[in-house]
This record gives sequence, C-alpha cells and structure tokens, in this order.
Amino acid sequence: MKFFVDTADIDAIRELGELGMVDGVTTNPSLIAKSGRDILEVTQEICDLVDGPVSAEVVATEADKMLEEGRHLAGIAPNICVKVPLTWAGLQTCKTLSDEGTKVNVTLCFSANQALLAAKAGATFISPFIGRLDDIVLDGMEVIRDIREIYDNYGFETEILAASIRTANHMKEAALIGADVATAPPAVIKGMIKHPLTDAGLAAFLKDAEAAKIKIV
Ligand code: E4P
Repeated sequence: MKFFVDTADIDAIRELGELGMVDGVTTNPSLIAKSGRDILEVTQEICDLVDGPVSAEVVATEADKMLEEGRHLAGIAPNICVKVPLTWAGLQTCKTLSDEGTKVNVTLCFSANQALLAAKAGATFISPFIGRLDDIVLDGMEVIRDIREIYDNYGFETEILAASIRTANHMKEAALIGADVATAPPAVIKGMIKHPLTDAGLAAFLKDAEAAKIKIV
C-alpha cells in the first residue's frame, strides 16, 4: 500500500519523506488554509520535495471554471494530481483533464456508486472518506471494501485512495482490504509505530544491557 501524507506542512512532509514514508501528498482547501500559505506557492514547494503525485484541489463549482483552475494547477509541476469533488461538474472536469493526460483525484466520495462513476470518468484516484462516514455512525471501511470488489470485478484502473483516515487502525484495515493508497495526517502515520510491548521490551533489554555492561562500540 502506498502512503500519501495528508498535509501542506512542508517540515512534516520532509521528515516522513526522509524515512521513505511518503509516496505522495494530498492537500485540500482546509489544509491549505491551515498552512496559512498561498496555494500555488506551497503546492510548488511540495512538488519539488516529493517525487510522487501531489493532489491540489480546485475551489470552483462550475465545470468550465473548474477546468481552468485544474489546468492552472496542473501547470505547477508534472507530478500534480488535480483534485475535484464528486459532483457532475467534477466528473466532467475529471474526464477532460484525464483525456489531456493530467492525473485526477476525485474526492469527497462516500459511496461505491460514486466511485463507479469516477472510474468511468477516468479518475486516476478515487478518495473515499472513511473518518467522515464513521463520524455519522456509518461504516467507512465497508465502502472501501465494496469499491475494491467492484473495481476488481471489472478491472478498473482507478486507484483506491483511502482518505479521511483518523487512526492507525484505519491504516491497517485499509491495507487488509487492499486499498491501493492510504492518505493520513503525519501524526497518524507516526502513531502506527506505537506498541506498549515494544516500549516495555526495550526497557527490559536496556536494563539487562546496563547490568551486564554490554558495550558494542
Ligand atoms: C484527503 O484527500 C482528504 O481531503 C482528507 O483525508 C480529509 O480528511 P478529514 O475528513 O479528516 O478532514
């Protein structure tokens, strides 16, 4: 499973990237707003830092304006992936940009039917939002499972990008189902390392090493 990092925080991307944990980046208008930076400037910087796809989201709602924004974003760097919402205007934009050879991430997906439409429109990635479904007491992971089955049934090449990931457990579940990519905030990716038995085991080993005066170099 590829790891995308869901942030516009350059330092966080760099830190995880140095560990080989960043196969791509996703941003959205909320994350750009949180960075306090200009969208074009921060997106350019992320593209310079990361080899994989960098999702940058349009803010227009009409297809012609969305297309204009998408083409502008695509001009930032070759690894830009234009992010469009799962609306008819978004799907129209997806089809045109995909036909032009631009990568497209269709976002705000909450059902398998929506994912089917995005695949038909030529999406490179579909982003089902797990956490936001869980927030309203639905099963986000079930949507990922359904999309996996449908895409596999028909050989759709659109990659499933599990999004709105809130916990390390979401990462594991998405990997078990076979999501192609998971995008998560840096804290969630870092949280995957946690296990109390690792901490306790290490403490015991270090205590014994000290008692036995073990020295390696
Ligand atoms: C990523 O592409 C999405 O925009 C993001 O994962 C949404 O996460 P949230 O539901 O935690 O805001």
